[in-house]
Amino acid sequence: MDKFSITGPCRVMRGEVSISGSKNAALPILAATLLFDKPVIIENLPSRTRDIQVMLNLLKSLGSNIQFLNNKKTVKITKTKKQKQFGSYSILKTMRAGILILGPLVSKYGKSICSFPGGCVLNGNSGRPINLHLEALKKLGMKYEIKKGYIHAKSNGKLKGNKIEFPAISVGASQQLIMSSVLAKGKTLLHNLACEPEILDLTNFLISAGAKIKWIGKRTCQIIGVSSLKETKYSVMGDRIETGTFCVAATLAKGDLLIKNFDPKLIKTELNLLKKVGAKIKLFKNSINIKGPERIKSIKNITTKEYPGFPTDLAPQFMVLLCKASGTSSITENIFQGRFLHAMELQRLGAKITIKNRTAKIEGSTNFIAAEVMSSDLRASAALVLAGIVSKGNTVVTRVYHCDRGYENFENKLKKVGVKIKRSK
Ligand code: UD1
Repeated sequence: MDKFSITGPCRVMRGEVSISGSKNAALPILAATLLFDKPVIIENLPSRTRDIQVMLNLLKSLGSNIQFLNNKKTVKITKTKKQKQFGSYSILKTMRAGILILGPLVSKYGKSICSFPGGCVLNGNSGRPINLHLEALKKLGMKYEIKKGYIHAKSNGKLKGNKIEFPAISVGASQQLIMSSVLAKGKTLLHNLACEPEILDLTNFLISAGAKIKWIGKRTCQIIGVSSLKETKYSVMGDRIETGTFCVAATLAKGDLLIKNFDPKLIKTELNLLKKVGAKIKLFKNSINIKGPERIKSIKNITTKEYPGFPTDLAPQFMVLLCKASGTSSITENIFQGRFLHAMELQRLGAKITIKNRTAKIEGSTNFIAAEVMSSDLRASAALVLAGIVSKGNTVVTRVYHCDRGYENFENKLKKVGVKIKRSK
């Protein structure tokens, strides 16, 4: 298992960072390629992240042909005659988004046997349920049984359009149902959808291939089924969470970064908070210049929420930032109960954080002192790296396979802007 070793504190974070394609947008787009008979070209793919490699392997195991074009960022995916409908446990256990193949397979082939998925353990004892996916797919005509950890699903002919109101907002279930409705018979109305930019990226991708999808409200989509999708070429949006992580890094380490290849309009909530803590921010069409302040101000009551609220995937990174603020701050987590697992590791570096129910109270003015810390999940690992950047001494972050799942080339991007970080076995 690889580790990062970071020598801090970093006092000269300066330069340019090029943001990769969004992992969370690319995963459903890759799953949606199962709906096609024609080839699909996907550009700006963060193909060096582990989750994208797993999804490509999953598609290969289902019979898709994967061909990289020119560079590692562009891939051509072509259906073969050997298409299968079996999502194996050995692949799906490593990644929650693997479940996104279920709806497209049933929609296209009328059947699928698919393992329950794995992924970051973020929800305490309640795991990461998929009830919203399954209940909604049932309303399109999918029937299923659960046997030995597998979902055995089928439909009687084509899935059929229906009116579905999600009882709670879920990013994954929204993506699942959008994909499954595109080839369904007739009209589907999906209410109470998540409206994260990654979901709009998915609908834009499908529309580029001839899908009839119309957003008729902020959280409502109307989809008229089509018989097939056309060949298409699509470029994945930039990664919001990677952008947010580098914005926090610059603010935290008094850095001066030009963060490129990302549309700042998509992270207004995060940028407003960073302004509040004192960051100096200049926005351009597709980049952000961010400078960290001499003194970071505290903020009370950051609350994670579905988009356009503050994203749960940036809560750990902001927690590190607020440890350095002058005053007490708080973050309330509303999406995942287990989001604060890294707080204990931050305490080992000197942070003063207390957690009660869903709220973390963070005392500021922490002088982080380096230690060995262990990553518990993807965003927690990024937070620990950020803490290492401003800790005195040599911080070792273990289990960075979590980080590799979703950050492309993380340590090289950090090295380029002046962070002393090394990967070792
Ligand atoms: C996606 C993102 C993840 C992000 C999360 C919330 C990807 C690959 N992952 O995860 O990085 O943190 O959105 O923005 O895009 N829930 C149920 N039943 C379900 C589905 C979800 O109860 O069937 C619950 C979850 O346990 C959680 C909440 O709903 O408490 C939100 O989860 P969801 O929006 O589905 O997150 P993911 O799609 O898994």
